Amino acid sequence: MPSLSECIITTQTEFNSALRAATTEQAAEAVRIEYLGRQGKITSLMALLKDLNLEEKKLYGPQLNQLRQDAELAIRAAKELLLLRQFALLQQQETNFDVTAYVPTYTKGSLHPFTHIIEKIENLFMSMGYQIAEGPEIETPAYNFDALNIPAHHPAREEHDTFWLTLPERLLRTHTSTVQIRTMEKQQPPIAICVPGRAFRHEATDATHDFMFMQCEGLFIDKHVSISNLLATLKVFMQGLFDIEIEVRVRPSYFPFVEPGLEVDISCPFCTTGCSICKKTGWIELGGAGLVHPQVLRYCGLDPDVYTGFAFGLGIERLAMLKDGITDIRLFRNGKIDFLRQF
Ligand code: PHE
Repeated sequence: MPSLSECIITTQTEFNSALRAATTEQAAEAVRIEYLGRQGKITSLMALLKDLNLEEKKLYGPQLNQLRQDAELAIRAAKELLLLRQFALLQQQETNFDVTAYVPTYTKGSLHPFTHIIEKIENLFMSMGYQIAEGPEIETPAYNFDALNIPAHHPAREEHDTFWLTLPERLLRTHTSTVQIRTMEKQQPPIAICVPGRAFRHEATDATHDFMFMQCEGLFIDKHVSISNLLATLKVFMQGLFDIEIEVRVRPSYFPFVEPGLEVDISCPFCTTGCSICKKTGWIELGGAGLVHPQVLRYCGLDPDVYTGFAFGLGIERLAMLKDGITDIRLFRNGKIDFLRQF
């Protein structure tokens, strides 16, 4: 059996080489546990002391203590050194980090101006208790014309330059007023709907006209609905859209499905004395409106002696153009990325 002094020497040698082999702070800690932990090799050697006689205790006690102290000191020093090295390594990795390497190329998208304005319009009408409604873009002449009091051979049909489909009795709706009928057929008053959607007219395009455009139809049917309700609703809506005080004015007009028919103007949101947008008039044309014609109510099974209502149709492109200072309606659909990126 090796003597205790031999054991002390081999333990010390083994400890030293184990510690030298430790390359991280965690590894140094493992060496500490192996030698100085509760069941550690040095701790076990020290435990032998209590069974020795006095002479042996005097001889080995100081040697074992020295062994333990040296080991503790060596562990502490090694840990500090290894920590420093780890930090230095990290720092070196960071300073050598190439921020330009492997940059994934990606393009950030943005919402189309239509999406912005439609969300805003819908939120404003929903805040007034309106529901958002929709209907098909391919329609029958019954919904697009007859139900709206525009019978065959009525001159108003000529004004709607219609895209007739090759399918019999099918067309691309020329306005979103079709959804008035579809809703009144299904629902009993009170009805309050806002209908943003596409409409189509077979006409030449220029900076302010497109063959496909977006309209926002509004319809409110209940008992005792009057023109003042229409004016108040449009005023609240326009003020919400432009975030400033706005005046609404109406002029007499003609649409077969409303009586009286009105043309709605708003005070120019951009000036008080006349600018290029309002063509120095102080007013901007907004769209058509009026009280729903009794004939239309009757067609949908509603008694015009009980119910009245108003309807309006606003051009969404026009609103977006006013709001965002866009000067050509064709920009909305030409897919030019530079235009779309601005929103
Ligand atoms: N549908 C009409 C158009 O497109 C607009 C309108 C809607 C007019 C509702 C009055 C009432 O020209």
